[in-house]
Amino acid sequence: MDNRPIGVFDSGIGGLTVVNALVKTLPQEAVVYVGDTARVPYGNKSTERIQQYSEEITKWLIKQGCKMIVVACNTASSQALDGLKSKFDIPIIGVIEPGIEAAIHATQNHRIGVLGTYGTIRSDAYGKALRKLNGNISVISQACPLFVPLAEEGWVSGDVPETIAKTYLENIITSDVDTLILGCTHYPLLKTTINKVMGGKVNLVDSGETTAAVVRSVLNKLELYPENGKSGKIFCRVTDSVELFESLAGRFLDAPISNASHIDIF
Ligand code: DGL
Repeated sequence: MDNRPIGVFDSGIGGLTVVNALVKTLPQEAVVYVGDTARVPYGNKSTERIQQYSEEITKWLIKQGCKMIVVACNTASSQALDGLKSKFDIPIIGVIEPGIEAAIHATQNHRIGVLGTYGTIRSDAYGKALRKLNGNISVISQACPLFVPLAEEGWVSGDVPETIAKTYLENIITSDVDTLILGCTHYPLLKTTINKVMGGKVNLVDSGETTAAVVRSVLNKLELYPENGKSGKIFCRVTDSVELFESLAGRFLDAPISNASHIDIF
């Protein structure tokens, strides 16, 4: 039994898609969410910088008394997760492993597409992990950086997002993948457009949903569930403007947020 909150962090607001999946799967858990809105985006930063930011936030969340850390950001998961696991003595879960397990499960033809930020695609973290699990898997990856501002603008359907998606997905469409990993916090918001552009023929894997299932099984295994009758709250902490975060949060999260506030961690 453990009533302490789960710490979740992301480069900014997009990780709320992971929180959304978490609260649906585990409504009794309290969540402290850190959005590093002052330093977003991570997607085009160096590995060293992403590792430094991820460490700073993890330290802060541990100081707040979190029982577990979820790295909701794909870019941070792809480049900082191993370092965090070796430095901190607390369960730390990223979004890559849960995503690849779901993709391996879904694919029939062993051809899997991966979409992500420049950093995630550069690291080839999804590709490496997929090929490690199954050497016969072919992975076709594509960075789609413009999907992030589109999702934040709420511009997720219509001609402009469709044209951008068609351009990014050209190689993926012709490569005969049957499964596509949405390897970025923001991309689930564009699911309908991506599905349309892919001709409605591929399995779309949303890492947020699969991560929530992994968190549940780790809590179970380590007996870290809160006591019965608890109902969780989401506490949001951001490194830049609270107002902007609050005005965009509803696009990413169905549940209400309590007391978003600013923090200084660097
Ligand atoms: N949260 C990032 C990710 O999932 C996307 C935004 C960014 O580039 O920081 O990769």
